[in-house]
Amino acid sequence: MIAPIKSMKDAFRLDGKNAVITGGNRGLGFGIATAMAESGANVAILCRDRAKAAEALAELRQYGGKYAAFDCDVTDLKSVRAAAAAVKKDFGDVDILVNNAGVSCVSELLDMDEELTDWYNVVNTDLNGTVHMTYEFGKLMRDAGKGGAIINIASNAALIVNKTQAMSPYSCAKAAVAHFTHCMAVELGKYDIRVNAIAPGFFNTELSKFIPPDMFTYINNQMPLGRFGEPIEVGALAVYLASPASAQMTGTLQVIDGGYILSI
Ligand SMILES: NC(=O)c1ccc[n+]([C@@H]2O[C@H](COP(=O)([O-])OP(=O)(O)OC[C@H]3O[C@@H](n4cnc5c(N)ncnc54)[C@H](OP(=O)(O)O)[C@@H]3O)[C@@H](O)[C@H]2O)c1
Repeated sequence: MIAPIKSMKDAFRLDGKNAVITGGNRGLGFGIATAMAESGANVAILCRDRAKAAEALAELRQYGGKYAAFDCDVTDLKSVRAAAAAVKKDFGDVDILVNNAGVSCVSELLDMDEELTDWYNVVNTDLNGTVHMTYEFGKLMRDAGKGGAIINIASNAALIVNKTQAMSPYSCAKAAVAHFTHCMAVELGKYDIRVNAIAPGFFNTELSKFIPPDMFTYINNQMPLGRFGEPIEVGALAVYLASPASAQMTGTLQVIDGGYILSI
């Protein structure tokens, strides 16, 4: 059983915890890596772009923990398995897993190519990547017997059909990630592993740069809080979900979108 907190002192701290973050080299993943490093965690970044990973590690070093990057393509189970072995060897036990790596596409289904390339690419990365990581790192966490926290980065697109941009593979993959979170919370609770998801709305990252200026203005006007979010704000929520403060939370989906889905 996971012990409840007795006071707020250090309730949000992650000192000495080992966190694995897919796509931690940039965007929301880097915001999460920064927030966790500032909160005392060691961070292992799993990604494909080594140059961007080196930049991220250089930024993280100011926080005084252990930081390293590992090559990993989350769509490839063998690559994930190799990364899990490498992280275990270098960091030891894993306490926190953030399944953040993701891609999107903008296209109506009937306009996709003959191979449905966009559909498979998004589903293989956003859904199957999350499954691959949970399978390999979940076994490490279970076998270590120390419990842990898994945080899946879904999207508010899991809950709505976005009329401004057609993105059915993305919406469906993220909706599946949300329900995968529920399933894993039930399956992994007996190992003291908590599984929660975050559903961000619009945030300033590479992924959102394809939004045309007029749509950017429209979205901001639709949002009760009137602005795109910053990656560190998702990081703050991820720290909460990884920390002792959320010891009684599992199987939840936390929307962080400036109120966007309330007013579309
Ligand atoms: N930005 C938003 O407004 C927003 C809103 C809702 C949800 N999200 C979700 O938040 C997550 C991060 O998005 P972002 O905006 O930060 O995107 P981003 O800036 O485009 O970064 C995507 C990240 O995913 C990694 N990645 C992609 N495919 C991968 C693969 N096959 N194997 C390993 N890593 C892979 C990339 O690593 P490499 O650099 O190595 O390719 C990169 O670090 C995604 O799951 C996204 O769906 C974002």
